[in-house]
Amino acid sequence: MSKKPLILGIETSCDETAASIITENEDGTPIILSSIISSQVEVHKKFGGVVPELAARSHIEKIDWIVQKAIKDSGRTIKEIDAVASTAGPGLIVCLSVGLSFGKAFAASLDKPFIAVNHLEGHALSPKINSTLNYPYLVLLISGGHSQFLNVQGLGKYKRLGTTIDDALGEAFDKTAKLLGIEFPGGPQIEIMAKKGDPNKYNLPKPIFHKGGCNLSFAGLKTAILKITKNIKTDQEKFDLAASFQKTVEEILYKKTKIAFRNFEKQNKTDKKIFVVAGGVASNKKIRSMLINLCKEESYQSIFPPIDLCSDNAAMIAMVGLEKFKKKQFNNLDHPAKPRWQLDENAAFLKGAGVQL
Ligand code: KG4
Ligand code: ZN
Repeated sequence: MSKKPLILGIETSCDETAASIITENEDGTPIILSSIISSQVEVHKKFGGVVPELAARSHIEKIDWIVQKAIKDSGRTIKEIDAVASTAGPGLIVCLSVGLSFGKAFAASLDKPFIAVNHLEGHALSPKINSTLNYPYLVLLISGGHSQFLNVQGLGKYKRLGTTIDDALGEAFDKTAKLLGIEFPGGPQIEIMAKKGDPNKYNLPKPIFHKGGCNLSFAGLKTAILKITKNIKTDQEKFDLAASFQKTVEEILYKKTKIAFRNFEKQNKTDKKIFVVAGGVASNKKIRSMLINLCKEESYQSIFPPIDLCSDNAAMIAMVGLEKFKKKQFNNLDHPAKPRWQLDENAAFLKGAGVQL
């Protein structure tokens, strides 16, 4: 039996400090030996969002014991580690620098290769952990930091089909929640409140609904909600607004996912059509069931990985490390942190004023 690679993954791009050890089975399926995630929700709650300096400080305080715990829980020893993979971007530069520097120093001290990982590549490949999923597949990533449709054709072969041109979907949920007086991160509460409200009470905008392909935009929704909340008095009105927001998001995702399906089919000649939904917002039950129904209508297989694998974690970073290790794709120790690192380097930068769709 040949020795299977043992990879340490480190993730500190935003507000989760995470480390993981993974390897693979005899049949080549990647398996997690340990995955430690420390969330900073309590640190940022009173500020209503992630504060970069506080996040970086918290990463510095925890990274050492989180990596040690990941190694201990894996049942393996430091000496058995074959390579160290750290997230190098995109993300908050002060946060990225913590995990990146730690990973480089760790690799150098072990005299083992270092691998710089794109966080989005981690999300894109995470459905392959513990499974035998084959390329190509379509990923919708809907989290607090990203909203993208990605055509995943192989290791290093990603085509971004669409992205948000302003806020991420999770951010839109959290901002709506904040306007309704709910603590950060309020996204999950919106789903609960929406159940008690009338989804047709408020007519909210659907930015770039009729243009921009499967690109997304949510900032206009937030502005409309801000105006409405100024005149809201009762709890029932709050429930109605939450329900109207939830319904509007579902309508946007339904239409944009259909467009993404057509684009995916144009780029891949495959009979097996697979749609993976990842990111924290994928745990929204109504969005989930709407997308499952859409997949049935469109003969797509739908995959919703377990939430601890599709929200931020280090196993997905180690997973990319494992694939790159097998292809000897290593990085030098002067690899920079890249706060705006696009996965598909040919994709246009689509954020800010003056974006042409
Ligand atoms: O992927 P994730 O766990 O972490 C990062 O973005 O880093 O996503 C978190 C986001 C938050 O914005 C949160 O409010 C949102 O996912 N979220 C939800 C639900 N659960 C989490 N949004 C809507 N409905 C939910 N049930
Ligand atoms: Zn993420």
